[in-house]
Amino acid sequence: MGSEPSVTVLNDSDALAEAAARLVVEAAAEAVATRGRFTIALAGGATPRATYAKLALPPYRDRVDWSRTWVFFGDERGVPPEHPDSNYGMAHATLLSKVPVPPAQVRRIRAEAEDPEAVAAEYAKALAETFGTRRGKLPRFDLVLLGLGVDGHTASLFPGSPVLKEIFRTVAAVHAAAAAIPQRFTLTLLVLNAAARVVFLVGGAEKAKVVKAVLAERAMLPAAMIRPDAGELVWLLDRAAAALLPGRAG
Ligand code: 6PG
Repeated sequence: MGSEPSVTVLNDSDALAEAAARLVVEAAAEAVATRGRFTIALAGGATPRATYAKLALPPYRDRVDWSRTWVFFGDERGVPPEHPDSNYGMAHATLLSKVPVPPAQVRRIRAEAEDPEAVAAEYAKALAETFGTRRGKLPRFDLVLLGLGVDGHTASLFPGSPVLKEIFRTVAAVHAAAAAIPQRFTLTLLVLNAAARVVFLVGGAEKAKVVKAVLAERAMLPAAMIRPDAGELVWLLDRAAAALLPGRAG
């Protein structure tokens, strides 16, 4: 199992977004300096919006070398990019349309296509091409951003899903019956746990119980299965989401 998570509690959602933006800038600078480029997998849902908005503005906007940045997505809903629930659509509106990242370096999941299995295979191929990984080798993201659902899901890895046992594929099409949009696509645990750094962004009182379950009770939930084998695991929480952790004032 990978390293223990580092947990940082921020005062509120704005401080959480600020800390997350700083982490992205730091990871980008380190990756470009040491490996000549920065590869990131963006999280979907609502929480990351505030972080993406900060990255789209000075000072953070000008501290990332967007020309050397490759953007992927941790997961996607089975909708077209212009759909309000599209993770790509949210990231494009809040960040990608506002920074000079070359379009060819933004790889979205073509979730609107007919054949889900073909979509997953196509995205796995895009990963392999970008990371130069042949069969058996795993893409190693410099940074993966993740959110946390109240049921303990992360990306589109939902409790009880067979994809949690996936040991070969890097990308999977999943049917998440509990989700508003059941057709989902997700990076698998193989890829997420191969990353150099994984950062969870979690805010709001409604997440306090599941944060406690994952971080204090080690409940067997998908988010608790994120333990990078040879990478750093960071949890950025706001005070409301951290309220039930041992030793924290409510
Ligand atoms: C998705 C996300 C998902 C999200 C959590 C938290 O596509 O739904 O990838 O894993 O991170 O559901 O979502 P909120 O940030 O909206 O609470």
